[in-house]
Amino acid sequence: MIGDIAFAPARVRPLRVAIAGFGVVGSAVAKILCERQELGRAIHLTHVFNRDVARKRVPWVPDTVAWTDRIEDLFASEIDVLVEVVGGVDQAYAWVSAALDRGISVVTANKLLIARHGRALIDLAAARGAELRFEAAVAGGVPVIDAIERGIAGDRLARVSGILNGTCNFILSRLASARGSFDEAVARARELGLAEADPSSDLDGIDAAAKLAVLAGVAFDLELPIEDVSRQSIAAITPIDFDYAARLGCTIRQVAVAERHGDSGLVASVGPALVGLESPLARVEGAGNIVLVSGAYGGDVTLAGRGAGGDPTAVAVISDLLSLSRGERRARRGGWRSARVVSSAPVARYVRFVVRDRPGILAAFAGVFARHGINVDAVLQEPGHPKARLPFVMTLEPCGEEEMTSALEELSLVDVHESRPLAAPILRGGNDVPR
Ligand SMILES: NC(=O)c1ccc[n+]([C@@H]2O[C@H](COP(=O)([O-])OP(=O)(O)OC[C@H]3O[C@@H](n4cnc5c(N)ncnc54)[C@H](OP(=O)(O)O)[C@@H]3O)[C@@H](O)[C@H]2O)c1
Repeated sequence: MIGDIAFAPARVRPLRVAIAGFGVVGSAVAKILCERQELGRAIHLTHVFNRDVARKRVPWVPDTVAWTDRIEDLFASEIDVLVEVVGGVDQAYAWVSAALDRGISVVTANKLLIARHGRALIDLAAARGAELRFEAAVAGGVPVIDAIERGIAGDRLARVSGILNGTCNFILSRLASARGSFDEAVARARELGLAEADPSSDLDGIDAAAKLAVLAGVAFDLELPIEDVSRQSIAAITPIDFDYAARLGCTIRQVAVAERHGDSGLVASVGPALVGLESPLARVEGAGNIVLVSGAYGGDVTLAGRGAGGDPTAVAVISDLLSLSRGERRARRGGWRSARVVSSAPVARYVRFVVRDRPGILAAFAGVFARHGINVDAVLQEPGHPKARLPFVMTLEPCGEEEMTSALEELSLVDVHESRPLAAPILRGGNDVPR
């Protein structure tokens, strides 16, 4: 609830705000601003910009708001803040740069824009005395950036991890509970409007990698190129993996991790991981998001909630606007520096094979792992599967990424595989990450 104290007007007049992009998020921002009339003391909506704007008009937006398909109209109108909810990278970068260059502050929900150009835009905002806010770019309505920048600013942060893609979490939760195929889970996500026609950006971890890059910037002041995030798709996960994970006291989630090593070293990965059932990551069901931030002094802080959707994302945008209306500044300690990506420390691993069974396979596979200096911890085999397509699992003692990759390459040469082996880290103890 917003009371008079929270509103404590630092400004004599409301912020003049233009929304660029009247889609899912932009229309939700406008709707909340129109419904919550008390917000008018802090935020005054002046323009809605969209291409072919005539078809976007809605009766519930007051007549005082100008609808336009010319971005120049916004810049010519002495607005205080541009809300960029168009999406995409190049065009958004041009508009956001143009606004900041004129000293107009920007609030954006665009994770790709910040992941690709955050460093330059933050520097530009600082040079022009403008503010750049992007709470909505990561985890939708979960105020993770505000928590990192203000709530736990006193800590030296070592790691951010979590579930940053609700679509993948829905699909994995569905696979675990409904026991259908991966394609069926994707189809259900599409029916519910949780997955795009082409969900590859979600499944392959590109969306989560962009959000992780934003978080790495905010948490460590380090610029993490999306291409430097080690990514693995969740598309190879099958219901049988959840059976084996359960035998290990785990479930499977798409986990994003960025961990600082030294001053500028960074380990960053997105992909399927086995997480202990006691972990907060395991308890996030459906399209939820969770972020765990670990600091040297304060330990772990966990934030969870709805990571996407028009209304939760609009709440994050409006919260940024309210902060600007109170005159709050975010000094960003000199911008983001270049990160030096380092390889992850050894971690225990799960490897699931599907093979045409024949004597000696286990010994042959164990021999390959041994040649790469990897110890097998256990072998698991669920009964009831045909010998012509037999799934089984080997768990491995902690080993590094490079040894693992070369062992898998050698294993793939053994002519018994019915599908590609699936390898995933086993993260135990709540907030454990690959070390
Ligand atoms: N939806 C979510 O749950 C969510 C959550 C967090 C962050 N975000 C981020 O929020 C941003 C907006 O997402 P959204 O879901 O609201 O997208 P959207 O529904 O597609 O809305 C984008 C709007 O911008 C307009 N637009 C696109 N290109 C344009 C151009 N070149 N010139 C003028 N107008 C243009 C579109 O018009 P048309 O109708 O003509 O296409 C549409 O109205 C993205 O950066 C997204 O990553 C979204």
